[in-house]
Amino acid sequence: MKIIAFLGSPREEGNTDLLLREAIRGVEESGSTVQLFRLNDMSIMPCQNCGGCDETGVCIYSDDMSPIYDAIRDADRIILASPIFFFHVSAQSKAMIDRCQAFWCEKYLLKKTFPGGEYGRKGLLLLVGGMKKEIGIQCAEATAKAFFRTISVPEHKTLSYLGIDAKGAILNHPTALKEAYEAGKELVKV
Ligand SMILES: Cc1cc2nc3c(=O)[nH]c(=O)nc-3n(C[C@H](O)[C@H](O)[C@H](O)COP(=O)(O)O)c2cc1C
Repeated sequence: MKIIAFLGSPREEGNTDLLLREAIRGVEESGSTVQLFRLNDMSIMPCQNCGGCDETGVCIYSDDMSPIYDAIRDADRIILASPIFFFHVSAQSKAMIDRCQAFWCEKYLLKKTFPGGEYGRKGLLLLVGGMKKEIGIQCAEATAKAFFRTISVPEHKTLSYLGIDAKGAILNHPTALKEAYEAGKELVKV
């Protein structure tokens, strides 16, 4: 089973990173490995809406999205982990998601099927916000759902935590790390 994960936080060992590590630990317990993309370390140009992918489903720009396109196409399980920034997913996450417009064109304009592998495709969404306002989670969830469905992930589970602000504060949450670990284990069940 091929599992990929996107870390949308710039903060190494920050709350999203720590949460994602637990989910990955849960996945790896099953014997699977995870290909991790640290989006903050990657050069991903924001979508230019140039129309270059309209008739081919292939982005005309070549940057660090290239290996991500290949990885998404082959993945059975996809994890997206993002902090909430200004009531949304981080810019790092959003830039990657917007570049999946190429997949959107392939699926909805060109009507090409985007086949799931032998295990089907499932997603896991991890969100962490410092405030206690649900709106950030709601906005991020809407975008993540559009992302997952565009890349033919028909179902995903969401774990979201609010009021987690200081670096590493997630470590003091009573259930978050365990829930992420369990969600990782659950994700790879067939
Ligand atoms: C630019 C910026 C914008 C933020 N906006 C929000 C917000 O709208 N809602 C919220 O709940 N937290 C907001 N936060 C707080 C972060 O979500 C919080 O610090 C979170 O724990 C960061 O996760 P990380 O440690 O994985 O980076 C913001 C933080 C930054 C740096």
